[in-house]
Amino acid sequence: MLPGRKDLLGIQELSAEDIYEILDLAAEMKEKVLSGDKKTYHLQGKSVVTLFYENSTRTRLSFELASKYMSSSSANITASGSSVQKGETLIDTGKTIDSMGTDVIIIRHSAAGAPHLLAKNVKASVVNAGDGMNEHPTQALLDMLTIRENLGGFEGLKVAIVGDITHSRVARSDAFALTKLGASVFIAGPETLIPRGFENAGNVTICKSVEEAVIDADVIVNLRIQLERQKSALFPTIHEYSEFYGMDQKRLSLAKPGALIMHPGPVNRGVELTSCVADSEQSYITRQVTNGVAVRMAVLYLLCREA
Ligand code: CP
Repeated sequence: MLPGRKDLLGIQELSAEDIYEILDLAAEMKEKVLSGDKKTYHLQGKSVVTLFYENSTRTRLSFELASKYMSSSSANITASGSSVQKGETLIDTGKTIDSMGTDVIIIRHSAAGAPHLLAKNVKASVVNAGDGMNEHPTQALLDMLTIRENLGGFEGLKVAIVGDITHSRVARSDAFALTKLGASVFIAGPETLIPRGFENAGNVTICKSVEEAVIDADVIVNLRIQLERQKSALFPTIHEYSEFYGMDQKRLSLAKPGALIMHPGPVNRGVELTSCVADSEQSYITRQVTNGVAVRMAVLYLLCREA
């Protein structure tokens, strides 16, 4: 994977072959994690640091568990508990972590491009764990693993991505991955939350309604409303959002029978989707979380192997 690369910064830079290599290895890692004996020695002697400037439950914990399962020395830093509070720059923070012999730095930051800047200034491999509204590559990889496990592949699939597209790094990374792998992507959401030019991400169609996006869909990815990134109100009320764009049984019934319901989390129940849909047989949300550990194990293994 990633021949000649030291970092994983985005899906845009990966080929379909790179993605398949990660998914194949992640499938092996998942078997190991579910076997009851999670321990491997793939990262023995390596050190992994998570550097999170934004909140996280799933991504941070799954990277930390992945590195521990593979026997690395791991540590974490959050912006609120670090010298960032004293005015230290990202580059100086990165160089400090680098100077301690760290092999991999996993960064989440509110600024798009922060992982790229860090990667240029440290010897360690850098993994983008979400940068502003740009990319969230490991989320897209775990989404692809979930789809492939359950639908067998990507060629010819119709995938609806619904919600706050503008502020969603998941939407961008998913769209890059899905179109590289042969699926068609259909986007729907409030007009104010659909960025201009998104259709240029590949085989992407912008739909006028959620119904148009989900009809005959194989997969529906519902996105979180990212109120923290909205500088002004971009839709009238949460109630209206859920009425026009929320996933309920009626809208779900338009999709193919057994269509996969996905959401990167955290879920705002009753807003992006009803509890009935979130907890239904068709919901793959908890399985996405399980796959997050396996995908992150695969990414850490491949980057450390390249080093
Ligand atoms: N999907 C995702 O990135 O979740 P967290 O913010 O909890 O990491």
